[in-house]
Amino acid sequence: MEYLRIQGGHRLKGTVTLPGAKNSLLPILAAGILCNKPVTIHNVPTLTDLDASLQILRAVGWGAEYMDGTVQLFPAMHMHSTIPEKAAGAMRSSVFYMAPLLHRTGKVELPSPGGCRLGQRPIDIHLEGLVKMGACAKMEGDILVLRAENGLKGTNFRLRYPSVGATETLMMAAVLAKGESKFFNVAKEPEVVDLANFLNTCGAKIQGMGTDCLEITGVERLEGAVHTLIPDRIVAATLLAAVVCAGGEVCMNNVCPVHLAGVLDIFRRMGVKIWQTEPGQLKAQMYRRPLPLGAVKTGPFPKFCTDAAPLVAAALLTSTGRTTIEDTVFENRFDCAMEFSKMGACALKQGRSVRIWGKEDYAGGKVHAADLRGGAALVCAALAAKGESKIFGLEYINRGYSDLQRLLSDLGADISLQSTEVEKISLYQKIAKAE
Ligand code: UD1
Repeated sequence: MEYLRIQGGHRLKGTVTLPGAKNSLLPILAAGILCNKPVTIHNVPTLTDLDASLQILRAVGWGAEYMDGTVQLFPAMHMHSTIPEKAAGAMRSSVFYMAPLLHRTGKVELPSPGGCRLGQRPIDIHLEGLVKMGACAKMEGDILVLRAENGLKGTNFRLRYPSVGATETLMMAAVLAKGESKFFNVAKEPEVVDLANFLNTCGAKIQGMGTDCLEITGVERLEGAVHTLIPDRIVAATLLAAVVCAGGEVCMNNVCPVHLAGVLDIFRRMGVKIWQTEPGQLKAQMYRRPLPLGAVKTGPFPKFCTDAAPLVAAALLTSTGRTTIEDTVFENRFDCAMEFSKMGACALKQGRSVRIWGKEDYAGGKVHAADLRGGAALVCAALAAKGESKIFGLEYINRGYSDLQRLLSDLGADISLQSTEVEKISLYQKIAKAE
């Protein structure tokens, strides 16, 4: 089993370039199926969720290749409507294939989607919207089966919550539906806008992206496109948390500060000096204990985003006072709190919230990631700890970071990838030699 070994207390210094956003990549790969011509996507990070997406694309008949940060998709000769169980179970983003497959094959068979256990994560809003557009949905055993043999039609629909995933599903459904659609109370996240921009480059007619209301006129067909993903704002938030935990100065290239609005505000309130040096470049500097935040809440964009909440929690473990962070988006964001405590830090999960009592220092420890961002938060916490930490559960972290170890070691962190198998073998070798 692989784990990250981190020796805390090393300051960060250096420059990094942000990869493309995972949360743009996954829906855009699924949206590629809507096209009639090849699609090229640049600035693609190598993630295990990318592997799962490529598996789904190939299983439904498309050609899908990754090389040097670029994915190329080639239209299928013949398409299948079944999403393989293993790939569906590997990531929640398998739900993005519902609308494109409904358009292309009139049917989708979706086994239980996987992903981080951040709460119940129902897909009722996706389904309600698709049914309103003419799809019929039913469970056949453990498999969700959707049918739309006569195609989808445009509709007016108000989302009961501005779900990112449901907004993206409905956008993909409406671009090739018959007639006009209006969706109210939609998500405004930058990744939703990136998907809309991609679809419009392919020939879709979407207006209102980045606002509460999307107006979409269905078109007959979509062509292909060459698209560059927006920078990953959660990787940027991870680096900000890392610089608070370790101290130091980090320069980030390929950043979009507007996408980070709520998060930058939180880090500035903690005392981090953050400034824009030139367009697309941010510097962050921190050489003291962070200030506590009192009570803060996450919320949909442009508020403090839920994915950054565990990272901010990690950054506050050495703060000079108390903070409560409430996640209003997911019920179970803070499983990492228990692991912070194992390191000797003071954090307590209470329902949807985490309470943090900042301490001057805490020791490292052996901890386990339970989800993607919580796992990255443990890595950040270990940068601040006195002594060595071992972080297990890399399968979660690798879903959203192409090489977090390399990213941080390039900045001066003492972090390395270890394997319990290799350690066992060398222990056996030592014992054998001694005998
Ligand atoms: C996406 C992001 C994830 C981010 C989240 C919120 C991707 C691949 N993932 O996840 O990193 O944390 O947005 O910004 O883009 N909900 C329902 N019914 C639905 C859909 C959602 O009740 O049909 C609820 C969810 O359980 C959750 C809340 O709405 O409590 C927000 O979920 P949503 O915005 O859909 O998040 P995801 O698209 O899953």
